[in-house]
Amino acid sequence: MAGFGRIQREQSAFVRYRQQPMMFGVFGTNSSGSAGIHTVPSSFDVSWDQSVTIAKMADDMGFELFMPLSRWRGFGGQTDYAGETYETLTYMAGIAAVTHRVLTIVTLHLPLVHPTLAAKAIATIDHISNGRGGINAVMGWYKADMAMFGLSPHAPEDRYVYGAEWLEIVQRLWSEDEPFDHDGRYFHLQGCIGKPKPIQARPPIISAAMSPAGVRFATQKADFTFASFQGYDKLRDHSRNLRTVAAEVGNPDVGLVCTALVICRDTEDEAKRFHRHLRDNADLVAARNLSIQSGVDVDGVPPEKQEEFLRDMAMSPGNITLVGTAEQIAEQISELRACGVDALFIGFHDYLGEMPQFGDRIMPLLEQMGVRLPVEAAPRV
Ligand SMILES: Cc1cc2nc3c(=O)[nH]c(=O)nc-3n(C[C@H](O)[C@H](O)[C@H](O)COP(=O)(O)O)c2cc1C
Repeated sequence: MAGFGRIQREQSAFVRYRQQPMMFGVFGTNSSGSAGIHTVPSSFDVSWDQSVTIAKMADDMGFELFMPLSRWRGFGGQTDYAGETYETLTYMAGIAAVTHRVLTIVTLHLPLVHPTLAAKAIATIDHISNGRGGINAVMGWYKADMAMFGLSPHAPEDRYVYGAEWLEIVQRLWSEDEPFDHDGRYFHLQGCIGKPKPIQARPPIISAAMSPAGVRFATQKADFTFASFQGYDKLRDHSRNLRTVAAEVGNPDVGLVCTALVICRDTEDEAKRFHRHLRDNADLVAARNLSIQSGVDVDGVPPEKQEEFLRDMAMSPGNITLVGTAEQIAEQISELRACGVDALFIGFHDYLGEMPQFGDRIMPLLEQMGVRLPVEAAPRV
């Protein structure tokens, strides 16, 4: 490993990778949620061996991002969707040690991790990875997660006030050389100092937020906002709104990242058939629980449309689904770029079986189309 030393922002892996028109990443392989809300068997499992294999594949294929899901309770049903999930700080410390390229961004529930602990843990991961650490800040919306800590989610109007104060403390710990006190609304701290500093001058921040207050917070405080959509029209609207808010708050470079489930087969018909097979085997109980817990008014959907609604939800909990041949998937990714998406977390029904062909068949097409720049033989940082 290279010797420790501060990496200026301009030289950081994050800023170099940001030159890609479309960055790629892997999200949520620490969680049984990554398999989707259905009962179709897959080789995917929550195991350390498989996580390492997928992370090394992402590295070798020239992906830029690797990020876990933060979840404490599942959503019941036959699959108990996301019920089995590794803790994210320890998981990403391990991933940082076995990779050389991907940014090792840690999803953290800010109300569940004290900022003093988080600042030191992320600085440690930044050293393990030689400057590839970062935070994906989530505020917590799932009551069952928070109840395990004796807490309730913050009211929507307070969530991002809390988040801003939390992040301010972390960034001071990363940057200030003298001990400081903090007397805010949520934290009263004395003599705070963070040593060692992260290797990067400032590890990147991602914020997964969808509400107006969340989007404002994300555009002000983050390098990337992480968003989910059902359909291209909503995505276009969100992207336009994000650009307006970003210009207002003076952070025009903030990026937009989404997740996409890729179902790529030799023929369009085969891909569509497999997509239908997953839909037909959706775990409707878990999809219903997830929808209700995330504030979707499922009972407001007309009864005759509810099943289809839940099958949609099960197929794409936060994902855009890309279905077709390699050429069609490349076209769809190009369309997402045109909608303003700067980075995509790519998911697969079966990572071990399907991810290599994404690198072999789809990424070269994207290079020809100018949606990806060639990766200089997966540079190591
Ligand atoms: C793509 C994506 C990934 C997310 N990942 C997590 C996660 O790992 N854990 C979590 O509790 N919430 C996660 N969230 C939820 C968000 O942090 C946020 O609470 C939710 O989108 C609602 O937005 P709001 O807080 O602005 O209302 C995720 C959201 C999105 C869009």
